[in-house]
Amino acid sequence: MDVLTALLLLVHLIPVSTAKNGVSSKSRKRIMPDPVTEPPVTDPVYEALLYCNIPSVAERSMEGHAPHHFKLVSVHVFIRHGDRYPLYVIPKTKRPEIDCTLVANRKPYHPKLEAFISHMSKGSGASFESPLNSLPLYPNHPLCEMGELTQTGVVQHLQNGQLLRDIYLKKHKLLPNDWSADQLYLETTGKSRTLQSGLALLYGFLPDFDWKKIYFRHQPSALFCSGSCYCPVRNQYLEKEQRRQYLLRLKNSQLEKTYGEMAKIVDVPTKQLRAANPIDSMLCHLCHNVSFPCTRNGCVDMEHFKVIKTHQIEDERERREKKLYLGYSLLGAHPILNQTIGRMQRATEGRKEELFALYSAHDVTLSPVLSALGLSEARFPRFAARLIFELWQDREKPNEHSVRILYNGVDVTFHTSFCQDHHKRSPKPMCPFENLVRFVKRDMFVALGGSSTNYDDACHREGF
Ligand SMILES: *[C@@H]1O[C@H](CO)[C@@H](O)[C@H](O)[C@H]1NC(C)=O
Ligand SMILES: *[C@@H]1O[C@H](CO)[C@@H](O)[C@H](O)[C@H]1NC(C)=O
Repeated sequence: MDVLTALLLLVHLIPVSTAKNGVSSKSRKRIMPDPVTEPPVTDPVYEALLYCNIPSVAERSMEGHAPHHFKLVSVHVFIRHGDRYPLYVIPKTKRPEIDCTLVANRKPYHPKLEAFISHMSKGSGASFESPLNSLPLYPNHPLCEMGELTQTGVVQHLQNGQLLRDIYLKKHKLLPNDWSADQLYLETTGKSRTLQSGLALLYGFLPDFDWKKIYFRHQPSALFCSGSCYCPVRNQYLEKEQRRQYLLRLKNSQLEKTYGEMAKIVDVPTKQLRAANPIDSMLCHLCHNVSFPCTRNGCVDMEHFKVIKTHQIEDERERREKKLYLGYSLLGAHPILNQTIGRMQRATEGRKEELFALYSAHDVTLSPVLSALGLSEARFPRFAARLIFELWQDREKPNEHSVRILYNGVDVTFHTSFCQDHHKRSPKPMCPFENLVRFVKRDMFVALGGSSTNYDDACHREGF
């Protein structure tokens, strides 16, 4: 307990101590490792606390920044759901006691929490495509169910929504006050945590919205690939990537030893413990300041956690080098990127529909999109992560449109593979929208190697 408490305090100490060194709190959120401000050896506990994304003071963000003569045309937001209860239990231990009801005077607070609950209780099934209409609109179990969104998760997305409201609605007037249903595009997977996260963000963005103007579509695939999910070559990349992951694990004797020790503590075979993905549950303990479980054989402890988390970081590093995941990602992310540029293209033609799109999704959605865009250095999507595409029009040259990409508030446009060389070639301050279009329509297949130049060919390449 003492160790945990001290570590949790870190969350509050980090901004203070970095500020003393003259480093703004913004640099903590930097998605690219910075050799100057970040320790050369990645600290597993520091990384885990970033992943928790514990709500604290309002963060600074770079959304909505553009030269004055640019006008914001449309915004496309991809989120990971907020903090959730684990998906797995550590066998033969008591699961963490976390309350998933929403209580306004319990931490983390949010001034809109009570109004959110009251607004959700007025919602009706008509706003949701089946089977979403059978899901609860906010978390409500005194002992969380597996995978349930927590109050922390709701607050994270109320904050996201409010931040986007201040920038896109108040400052840039993306939507008129009397916005209509077809100006929004809302889509979520069929889990209660993604639907509820989407609703919390939407409530922060458009407080007390008119339920009659809201329609959430259901997305059955975590890749958001709709009618284009069949892609055998993508699955082959995934199998090879999983094989790589397996071999790396076998090489790590310290990891095997740790799983063995933990298995002995909970008294199950090592294999069974590993299959229960204990890191997921341990992260929940850490994010919620609940001590790790004990049995009469001993306790799961911070040293176990560090070994497993360090291996995860190691795994991500090798994943970047071996590029199998990149192949999977280019094919996996194509359909949703294609859909997004389609929506942007219609907006460039002056159509006033779908100006704000929200996709409420998972780590396994955001991660391939980041990788496909060439943002391989980006951190693994934390709880309530947000990835945003902004479309801008140059008022001085109304036919020219530009795009900005932001990840957790950090402008990563010039780290993407379609705009990283932009400054070398062009004096324009913004990244041309055509670069993104060219990338999605053709260059992402060229990046795969082979000779394919479209999705269907790339998905069915012979002899891969
Ligand atoms: C963590 O929990 C302990 C008691 O269980 C409490 O004393 C401590 O203040 C908590 N720490 C934080 C950062 O909330
Ligand atoms: C890409 O989007 C266009 C419409 O914008 C659509 O006609 C085409 O089928 C899509 N391709 C894929 C592979 O999703």
